[in-house]
Amino acid sequence: MTIQENNIPQRQSGDLLVNAEALRDFVRRLWTAAGSSATEAGLVADHLVMANLTGHDSHGVGMIPRYVRSLHDGVLKLNQHAVVVRDAGAVLTIDGACGLGQVVAYEAIDHGIERAKKIGICAVGLRNAHHIGRIGHWAEQCARQGLVSFHFVNVAGSAHVAPWGGSDGRFGTNPFCAAFPRQGKEPLVLDFATSGIAQGKARVAYNKGSHVPAGCLIDHQGEPTTDPRVMFEEPHGALRTFGQHKGHGLAMMCELFSGALTGGYTTHAETRITNNGVINCMLSVIIDPKAFDAEDTEAEAEAFIAWVKASPKSAGCDEIYAPGEPERLRHAQRRHSGIPIDTATWDEIERAATALGMPATEIASALAA
Ligand SMILES: NC(=O)c1ccc[n+]([C@@H]2O[C@H](COP(=O)([O-])OP(=O)(O)OC[C@H]3O[C@@H](n4cnc5c(N)ncnc54)[C@H](O)[C@@H]3O)[C@@H](O)[C@H]2O)c1
Repeated sequence: MTIQENNIPQRQSGDLLVNAEALRDFVRRLWTAAGSSATEAGLVADHLVMANLTGHDSHGVGMIPRYVRSLHDGVLKLNQHAVVVRDAGAVLTIDGACGLGQVVAYEAIDHGIERAKKIGICAVGLRNAHHIGRIGHWAEQCARQGLVSFHFVNVAGSAHVAPWGGSDGRFGTNPFCAAFPRQGKEPLVLDFATSGIAQGKARVAYNKGSHVPAGCLIDHQGEPTTDPRVMFEEPHGALRTFGQHKGHGLAMMCELFSGALTGGYTTHAETRITNNGVINCMLSVIIDPKAFDAEDTEAEAEAFIAWVKASPKSAGCDEIYAPGEPERLRHAQRRHSGIPIDTATWDEIERAATALGMPATEIASALAA
């Protein structure tokens, strides 16, 4: 390991480029080796590789080592299903039983879609799900059925983000997501962490030995820093919320809506995570646009989107994007050219696969295509 001028350790030199199909097949076989059913292994593989394809490497295959550690800690449970614990018509309370979020969130959203189609709206409270990954995935599941949705999520027990005005971590990266479907066109999908950067993006920077953008981190004394080591090495610092007091406020609402309202749990001294588990709670509100007395929702929406995109571009801007467009462009590019994975992250994934008993030849096959 070398030390750069900026004092951040260099662990690797360059990225691997991995074919999406080969990677999906590898992830599927990895979870099968862990003991997942074929359906479970397939859902996890689809979700993680889709996160990489859309450019959100923080929520892609790089999460596998953490999931495997969580499995070994006894937090993550395989082959679980979403359990409806209370059906109050337009409100469903669903327990994720610490199962793979890629399965239990899929099932919880499926319940919500069915109900929203029937009565116009459904609020789904999903609690105790293991990491549910990229939240846009769940909004897209609703949008494919022509449904609007918004989602508030907490990372229960995770105190990695400092409140506005505070100097240590008090809540998680609590993402917010909303999607608006369009007929014959791709939906608008707004999907972001309420921290300046997602924690996984600090992990990617740490593994690459690089910096994060200014304004995203503080050190253990509350001083601004761009060194991601403060998130992974003692003494620990914290992430900052985006948009000053506004991100702080949205993060708190995400925590309350998802962790308290659903019967899950919020982050405080008694619930702080002391193991490798990542538990998400999510409040999803799913609406059938047809339930409103609106003459032409579609035309109004299209007129607005066209109006926004017609703004004269500022210096250095090639395109005005609607939420979700950058992900679709990245998806097309990575599907064609491959998914970049830094070698430090790949080494961690290989070690996790080996710990699950996957033969070396099978592990290597992901990089062969
Ligand atoms: N499960 C969890 O616990 C958890 C926690 C935090 C974040 N996440 C996920 O992490 C992922 C990454 O979050 P992030 O905060 O790094 O996202 P980000 O900062 O990359 O923001 C992404 C959003 O901004 C939009 N966007 C980006 N550039 C744009 C542009 N130039 N013009 C218009 N719109 C633009 C994207 O379409 C997308 O909606 C998300 O998918 C989120 O759901 C999950």
